[in-house]
Amino acid sequence: MDVTFSVNGERVSLDVEPRRTLADALREDCGLTGTHLGCEHGVCGACTVLVDGQPARACLMFGVQADGCSVTTVEGLEGEDGELHPLQEAFVEHHGLQCGFCTPGMLMSALHLLDTDPGAGRETIREEMSGNICRCTGYQGIVDAVEAAGAALRGDADGPSSS
Ligand code: FES
Ligand code: FES
Repeated sequence: MDVTFSVNGERVSLDVEPRRTLADALREDCGLTGTHLGCEHGVCGACTVLVDGQPARACLMFGVQADGCSVTTVEGLEGEDGELHPLQEAFVEHHGLQCGFCTPGMLMSALHLLDTDPGAGRETIREEMSGNICRCTGYQGIVDAVEAAGAALRGDADGPSSS
């Protein structure tokens, strides 16, 4: 089936088999391998992307369902000059990753969270990120990173809020 959607702001037209997942379409047809596949049945969150601004499990969507949509993947976080997004910088700074397998999904969930709730405190971060599983970090560094990124994006020189 012919499918047209935008990925990270670029229009993409593909001939996609109806059974092909969005994750496979992104990884194999678009070459965007930053979207990782772990469980492939909607549990781990590694494949999280934004579809029309909402987090979606790319392993649970068919590629054809993205027709006409705007998809953002982890590659879309990169700045125009290749610089890291403040969320990526915060993950590095606060040890929010070890093997990095979960990281793309974590970043996309965190991006949506901070877009919708820029002042999210630690409890909100834990709650909203609970659909993303990490086998390495123990989560503390991830929460620290999202909290710090929120402060940076708000331009809060005093650092994270205590809420
Ligand atoms: S690979 Fe999609 S939720 Fe685990
Ligand atoms: S950093 Fe290894 S799974 Fe999260």
